[in-house]
Order: sequence, then C-alpha cells, then structure tokens
Amino acid sequence: MGIEDASMRNGRPLSDQWADSVVVRPRTTEQHITVNKRLVLGFAISILTLIIVTAIAITLSVSFERCAAESSGTLAANGSSNSKWKQSRNANISHRDSEDGQQPWRHLRLPATLRPRHYDLRLSVSMENFTFSGEVHIEFECVHSTKLIVLHTDRLEVDKVLVYSDSKKAGAMRIQRRFHYQPKQVYVIALHREMKPLRTYKINITFHAHIEHELLGFFRSSYVLNGERRFLAVTQFSPTHARKAFPCFDEPIYKATFRVSLKHESSYQSLSNMPVEASTSDEDGWVTNHFSRTPRMSTYYLAWAVCNFTYREAVTDSGVVIRLYARPDAIQSGSGDYALHITKRLLQFYQDYFKVKYSLPKLDLLAVPKHPYAAMENWGLSVFVEQKILLDPDVSSFSYQMELTMVVVHEICHQY
Ligand SMILES: *[C@@H]1O[C@H](CO)[C@@H](O)[C@H](O)[C@H]1NC(C)=O
Ligand SMILES: *[C@@H]1O[C@H](CO)[C@@H](O)[C@H](O)[C@H]1NC(C)=O
Ligand SMILES: *[C@@H]1O[C@H](CO)[C@@H](O)[C@H](O)[C@H]1NC(C)=O
Ligand SMILES: *[C@@H]1O[C@H](CO)[C@@H](O)[C@H](O)[C@H]1NC(C)=O
Ligand SMILES: *[C@@H]1O[C@H](CO)[C@@H](O)[C@H](O)[C@H]1NC(C)=O
Repeated sequence: MGIEDASMRNGRPLSDQWADSVVVRPRTTEQHITVNKRLVLGFAISILTLIIVTAIAITLSVSFERCAAESSGTLAANGSSNSKWKQSRNANISHRDSEDGQQPWRHLRLPATLRPRHYDLRLSVSMENFTFSGEVHIEFECVHSTKLIVLHTDRLEVDKVLVYSDSKKAGAMRIQRRFHYQPKQVYVIALHREMKPLRTYKINITFHAHIEHELLGFFRSSYVLNGERRFLAVTQFSPTHARKAFPCFDEPIYKATFRVSLKHESSYQSLSNMPVEASTSDEDGWVTNHFSRTPRMSTYYLAWAVCNFTYREAVTDSGVVIRLYARPDAIQSGSGDYALHITKRLLQFYQDYFKVKYSLPKLDLLAVPKHPYAAMENWGLSVFVEQKILLDPDVSSFSYQMELTMVVVHEICHQY
C-alpha cells in the first residue's frame, strides 16, 4: 500500500509536467517542416543501411566462395593462381567427370579391379647412411579387365617395373607408361594389353628411399648407451604409411600374405611379424634374415625393425615364445620383466576366454625410445614406446604401473 501511495504522489507532478510540455509545444508550419526533415533523414538512413547491408552480404558471399574453392581444390593453395584455377576448373567440370572413368588414380580409393594375394618383399637396409633399397614381388588377381595397375607409393623412388602374366602366353607384358601421382600417393602402370578377369599376374618393382627421422613409415630413432649414440629403425604403418616403405595396395581390405627378408649389417639384428626361417651371411659382413610367410592380413599390420637390442624370453604353456626386446641396459636392469610376465599370463587368459589359440608361433614386444602412439599392435611384433612398457619396481608409482598394464592388456587383446 505504502508503495502505491508514493508512486501516485510522485507520478502526479510528473504527468502534469508532461501535459504542460505537450500543451506548450507549438502546432505551426515550422513543426511540419521539422517532421518532413526527419522523414527525409530517416529515409536516407534506411537507404544507407540497405546499401551497407548489401555490401556486407556481397563481401561475405565472395569470401565464402573463395573458402569453398580453396577447401575443395588441392591446387588452389596459391592465392594468385586461385581465380585462374577456378575458371579452368569450371570450364573442365564436364570434361573431367567423363575422364574420371579412365583416370582412376584421381580417386581417393584404389580402383577395385585388382586384388593382391601375396607379397615377397626384400629389403636392404643401410644404417650407415639411413637408406634402404628393396624389391617387391606382388602376385595379384584381376577382378575386372583393365590396362591399369594402380597401387600406393609415397616418398619412394621407383627404379624398375616388370609385369608378368601367368597365362599360357607367359612372359613380360609391355608397359606403355608409368608415373607417380603425388596428390593421391599412387603409382600408375599403364599396360599395352588388357588384363583379364580370373587370371593372376605378377609385378616386380625395385625402389629405394630414405629412413626418415620422422615417426611414420620406416623410420629411425636413437638412444644413448654408455655415452654412445645408437640407432635403430622401425616401422609404423597404421593407418596409411606402409606405402612409405614399399609399393603396395595400402587399404585394409586388400589382405594378402607377406614374406619379408631383411638384409643389414651383421652388427644389427632384425625382427618382423614372423620368426626367422633362414639366415644367410655375406662375406662383406652383411646378414640376410628370411622371415616365414605371414597369415593373410592387411598391410598396416606388417612390421619390421633393425636394431641392436637384447631380450628376455618367456614361453606360454601352449608353446608360444614371447620375447621382450629393449635397449641392453633396460633388459639388464629387469625393467621389462613385469610386462613380459603379464603378457605371458594374458596370452593364456585370452586363449581360455576366447577359446581361440594365438595364431602365430611367437610374439615379440619391442620397446622403442620414440613412437607416435603409446603402442601399435602389429601382429606378432607389437611396438611400444618405452614409457608404456618398461618400469623400475623400486621407483615407478602405482598409477604408472596401472597405466602400463592397461596399454599391454589392450595391445595383447588386439592379437586375437
Ligand atoms: C604462385 O603462383 C605464382 C605464379 O603462378 C608462382 O610464381 C609462385 O611460385 C606460386 N607460389 C606457390 C607457393 O605455389
Ligand atoms: C582443361 O581441359 C583442357 C583440355 O580439354 C586441358 O588442356 C587443361 O589442362 C584442363 N585444365 C584442368 C585444370 O584440368
Ligand atoms: C648407402 O649405403 C649402401 C650400402 O653401404 C650403399 O649401397 C648406398 O649406395 C649408400 N647410399 C647413399 C645415398 O650413399
Ligand atoms: C621377380 O621377383 C621374384 C621374387 O623376388 C624373383 O624370383 C624373380 O626372379 C624376379 N624377376 C625378375 C625378372 O627380376
Ligand atoms: C651392438 O651392440 C654391441 C654390444 O653392446 C656392440 O659391441 C656393437 O658395437 C653394437 N653395434 C652397433 C652398430 O651399435
């Protein structure tokens, strides 16, 4: 109540004042003129606003178009050539669409015309100058007739290419042209003659490349032992980096068997998914390890390493040999023993749980100083960064041990 009274009291003089001012305001022609002026002013302002809004809209749409063009075209990185490129792209749209059928290397995915069945891969690895050269021999089946072999390569220098037919008219097939198409990381081999469905063919490719100091493909890293820098080279192919180590059909659907052989200086040892089947020594101090044939699998599960590590070993009840490889000082101090111990128990546990036997004769765990992930579950050769597999029971915390256990449990489960 009190509040209402106050407002009434306060309101009366106010409204009186307002009424006064209204009464006092003169209704003359002068007022009409000011009203007209206001109208004109308002009209001008609204037109001006309209112009500004339109200008902003045009600017926005232009820059949006430019963004869209840049994101849709790999060639448009260069600003100055951008508009030129856009014009020619527009002019060529229909042309390029009709051409795509004959230019499958422009597609993101490989054409599904060929299917690899087996790879023979021979690599010669120089840890002196961090280069490797190789020869890959791929057996593949033709699914749909084609003159083109399109497979992945990236950062590889391809030297020689030979294509054979397995049919009655066996022998080398003539190659019309071959080239690397970098935007899609593919190598294209165009033949004179068409390959026919249900027939098998073979291709031999020799190549060479660098062992990069980068955590992808076949890469190198290093560690210090007794004040001396030591090097190792290891692979990381998941998801799409096998193509950096050898020419291949680098999509998970193209499963095949692999037989790897690695040649290197005898002061190093080498590992791969499968155990060594045979080993030969050259008189020049080089060794070649021939690994057994893998089961059918995707390219990203293939792995190998060239290092100067030592190991500790455990054998499961079903006879699977588990080895943990690490730098010699870590093995000596027993840092890998915990991971080795739980891996042995895990293999037995999973075998009982899934009722599936571990399908390879051995499992190597490799502790490397640097790795892009915590670990990678390559079949038969799992690679771990040292911090996720080595521990010192006297120093490491419980949470560190838990984290390490989770990583090992995860990677071993991948083996099934
Ligand atoms: C951009 O285009 C100009 C002229 O076409 C060329 O000289 C320059 O090298 C290009 N720059 C890049 C980064 O591609
Ligand atoms: C457009 O097509 C012409 C010939 O039809 C070709 O020479 C030119 O390189 C094409 N341009 C692009 C950007 O593909
Ligand atoms: C690297 O070393 C290997 C073997 O010692 C040799 O065959 C190769 O030519 C060398 N490459 C370079 C680039 O020096
Ligand atoms: C192709 O590679 C296979 C396996 O590496 C080899 O046996 C064969 O001799 C090679 N062919 C030629 C012509 O190099
Ligand atoms: C490998 O390790 C052994 C023993 O520690 C050492 O004598 C040899 O020099 C090492 N080789 C290389 C290439 O590091």
